[in-house]
Amino acid sequence: MNSARVRVVTIVVMKQAVVLLAWLGGAAVPVAARLPPEQLQKLPPAASERVDFVRDIKPIFEASCVKCHGRGKAKGGFQLDTRQTFVRGGDSGPVAVEGQSAESHLIELVSGLDPDNVMPVKGSKLTGKQVGLLRAWIDQGMAWEASVTFAKPPPLNLHPRRPPLPPARSGVNHPVDRLLETYFAEHQIKPAATVDDRTFARRLSLDVIGLLPRPAVLGRFMNVKEA
Ligand code: HEC
Repeated sequence: MNSARVRVVTIVVMKQAVVLLAWLGGAAVPVAARLPPEQLQKLPPAASERVDFVRDIKPIFEASCVKCHGRGKAKGGFQLDTRQTFVRGGDSGPVAVEGQSAESHLIELVSGLDPDNVMPVKGSKLTGKQVGLLRAWIDQGMAWEASVTFAKPPPLNLHPRRPPLPPARSGVNHPVDRLLETYFAEHQIKPAATVDDRTFARRLSLDVIGLLPRPAVLGRFMNVKEA
């Protein structure tokens, strides 16, 4: 390509870029929706004190938001589990602009200034003082200790329990035997006599599967040498 053509191509590309920028500029939508100026003035002012997340903000989220945005729920795509999910925002993007609470969608929602768009959807509205605390929290950098989460805790019954084992004595070493022996003694139950492997396998199969073991399975079991 000769240098004249390069210049022409460059100019064309630059012209297109300028047109594109102008178009983007005209159509640019602010990331966070904004209240009209006359509404903005009605926002409760940000609290003037230093906000502490655990003391001031956590209780607000807990009482008014977590039911729909925490513990595994994410209404509107907004999940209030950790700082990370909070910052990510919801279906319509980020909900808070760090340092700019008046620009933050979340503050619009909790202020109740737009009656069609209020959070919480149900229950009592936040007070002016609470909105002020949330504003100050956003303005002061949205600190959120990593140890605080509103995520759904894992079900407790899936954690293995480790019951204390009664002491072993000679001939009764296996943990299950140690537990059973104590139980039998407490309830005055005479333990059944130990049975041979074949009888044990048949009983186990009847108990667990409801059928006698197939001969091949029984054969394999009988062939297993105790480790
Ligand atoms: C009773 C359930 C409920 C409660 C309580 C609730 N919300 Fe919501 N929230 C919703 C639903 C449903 C949506 C999605 C529909 C909508 O935008 O109206 C939503 C959407 C949102 C969104 C917008 C997400 C997006 O990107 O569009 C934000 C932010 C939000 N809630 C914040 C809060 C805050 C903060 C609280 C507590 C002060 C709260 N919500 C309490 C049900 C609830």
